[in-house]
Amino acid sequence: MKNQLTRRSFMQETTAGLAGVALAGLSPRTAAGSVVKKANKLALFGGSPVRQESFSQIWPVFDDREERALLKALRSGNWCCLRGNAVYDFEKTFSDRMGVTHCTLSNGGTTALGASLQCLGVGAGDEVITTPHTFIATINVMCNLHALPVYVDVDPDTGSINADLIEAAITEHTKAIVPVHLGGWPVDIEKVMQVADKHGIPVVEDACQSVFAEVNGKKVGTFGATGCISFQEWKTLVCGEGGAILGSDPELMRRCAAFVNNGRDPQGQIKGYPFAGSNHRMTEFQAAILTEQYKRFLEQDEIRQRHGQYLESELCRIPGLSRRKRYTENTRITYFNFEVDYDRTRMQGVPAARFAEALRAEGIPMQGGPRVYSGGCHREGMLEQHLNSRGFQTVFSKARLDHYRTSLDNLPVMDRRVTSVKEMIKADTKIALLGSREDVDHMIAAFRKVAAHLDQLA
Ligand SMILES: Cc1ncc(COP(=O)(O)O)c(C=O)c1O
Repeated sequence: MKNQLTRRSFMQETTAGLAGVALAGLSPRTAAGSVVKKANKLALFGGSPVRQESFSQIWPVFDDREERALLKALRSGNWCCLRGNAVYDFEKTFSDRMGVTHCTLSNGGTTALGASLQCLGVGAGDEVITTPHTFIATINVMCNLHALPVYVDVDPDTGSINADLIEAAITEHTKAIVPVHLGGWPVDIEKVMQVADKHGIPVVEDACQSVFAEVNGKKVGTFGATGCISFQEWKTLVCGEGGAILGSDPELMRRCAAFVNNGRDPQGQIKGYPFAGSNHRMTEFQAAILTEQYKRFLEQDEIRQRHGQYLESELCRIPGLSRRKRYTENTRITYFNFEVDYDRTRMQGVPAARFAEALRAEGIPMQGGPRVYSGGCHREGMLEQHLNSRGFQTVFSKARLDHYRTSLDNLPVMDRRVTSVKEMIKADTKIALLGSREDVDHMIAAFRKVAAHLDQLA
């Protein structure tokens, strides 16, 4: 029992922490009384919840600053970046802060990824090594180029691409590697880069969900040949729809800037349309909002860091909860979500999903389950549609496609056919960390309460 959080210690900790919890609007006496009641019964079974009021769901956050910026762009009459300055100004601001020489804004993270691959020469018949644990956009851009997404299994501790398995997946057809820093968590990028450099294969980092995460003090998205960011509305830095390509190779970045602008030379040295391209330009309206949101993001990011670190350190004092494994050099995560590892063997066998259900009943928006949540992109129907398309059937032999289909069954960790996959609990909204310190204290109190009453869940 030494490591178990007992009811007594829960009461002591909770009561001692009451000043901090400062249950909004309640007198200490009432608050203490209500905690005693709560201590007796989980809200899931009719006890009074730790938290009565719901967490803010307001996102994106904006005010008259965004409105003024938008109006200014509107009234300028320069709505396209070819005539305005907002897009180019933000490219400069963002590249300086990210630590690269070039940034090209685009109308989305998807188009940023697609442009990167195409400008690196990825095309029909090629293979691109990636992870099945990502948003489908990562995979769509490969398939749309008639290239095969070759999946490498994930690390059971983190759900990130298992860098140790990449080398074995390299073939003569491999033209790029796309690791994905998912949910604000950097992958083992230094190891990925070592393998990639050894074989002379370019890396395109999908950092769409991880603005400002760092490895060894260097921002993710700045390790590979390019790094791609999304400013879509549900990310941490937003303008509705938008993306960025980051990089420091002048020739490659020249092609990328040209690509999003129908092939025009960004340096204006070559007339006409000398490069391959499409129109993926960001508008001045998006850039105007992005510029304002960026100032807001710098503050929000600090709040998330402060609250995330506090929450993590307090929760890790509860036996059975621990900090998610970080790769050694992973010096800063982005609190896109909040996540904590969950060991059910130290939680009386209660599954993480059940623990999270009890937290939700206490008024705390959390989800629980295996670290690898989704079914994985290798199981999505779009893949078979591509494999059966005229383009794929023309470019790839039947034997190669058959072999590819078989390889999709060789992802035991992603498919949860191994027992070492960790469980986790995560906040189901990043907005949860943007509230007050009291909000975080409520979360801590609810975790402690549920952990102290596992017998009711078992
Ligand atoms: C991991 C990942 N990659 C790529 C994208 C695509 O970005 P966008 O929606 O801006 O096109 C997203 C967006 O959700 C994402 O989460």
